[in-house]
Amino acid sequence: MSSARPLVSATSVLDLIGETPMVRLRSVEQRAGGGVEIWAKCEFANPGGSVKDRAARQMITDAIADGALRPGKTIIDSTSGNTGVAYSMIGAALGYPVTLVMPANVSIARKQITSAYGTEIIYSSELEGSDGAIVLVRKLVAENPAKYFYPDQYSNESNPKAHYLGTGAEIVAAIGDRITHFVAGIGTTGTIMGTGRRLKEHRKDIQVVAVEPDDALHGLEGLKHLATSIVPHIWRPEGIVDRRLPLATDEAWDASDLLCTEEGLFVGHSAGAAVAGALKLAREAGPGACIVTILPDRGDRYFGPLRWEKQYVW
Ligand SMILES: Cc1ncc(COP(=O)(O)O)c(C=O)c1O
Repeated sequence: MSSARPLVSATSVLDLIGETPMVRLRSVEQRAGGGVEIWAKCEFANPGGSVKDRAARQMITDAIADGALRPGKTIIDSTSGNTGVAYSMIGAALGYPVTLVMPANVSIARKQITSAYGTEIIYSSELEGSDGAIVLVRKLVAENPAKYFYPDQYSNESNPKAHYLGTGAEIVAAIGDRITHFVAGIGTTGTIMGTGRRLKEHRKDIQVVAVEPDDALHGLEGLKHLATSIVPHIWRPEGIVDRRLPLATDEAWDASDLLCTEEGLFVGHSAGAAVAGALKLAREAGPGACIVTILPDRGDRYFGPLRWEKQYVW
């Protein structure tokens, strides 16, 4: 068996971000009827544990390069968790303090992880979800603009750029001309916008599909129901995203279980959503399809109780 990742010696944790391995999902392929390839990019293999390491590194290094982030400033942003872990890790490595605004109901594990890096957490109303955190962070920055550097992952072009330069280029290098579909969940939409743009440049007929929760009230942390959310500025799907695929929380959670028990991949629910989407597309497209998807993070971030219970007990 060949090693997916070459042995590297890095000068900083920032250099360990990206170049994640891809794994073939044989069991999911069988459920699709066979004759298809389904590949998943293991973004949980990033050092902060999620796909968001890529966007955070790009936003922070671009801001240092253009002078928007200077010593003495604090990095602040709203986050459902994973971006917060990434900011915390990178801030610690580069010597910048980090403040995060997050809905009070994000998983306990994420609060503990970000705190461990020395990050300050400010809680927004759990009833207002990620949009409430965005509103509060904007207020804090407006009150004290000199203190903060606010990357604003929903509007920052460095977010999709990270995926254009990294995720998309790596998928092209690994799978090349065989790829017929790319499917990923949407939160800030950075992953799909940047990766999708890179893949469309490679071959225009690659179908780029955005998976989103089918309802405003959902149990897919990290993903957004766009129709009822503040639409991210970086979301400009024309010419990049061919289709939006709404998915029920149960379907995504079932796919997470399947990934764990049949593929040995203990991943989060947004990974389940992406793979449930990949399975749908594989069934539709039939033999010959080569579908690439994203596993954004690991399942152990979700041990803390969430509102959505598998047994439907609220
Ligand atoms: C677990 C998880 N999955 C998926 C996403 C969506 O990625 P993006 O923000 O690039 O759309 C996020 C974003 O925060 C996330 O935390």
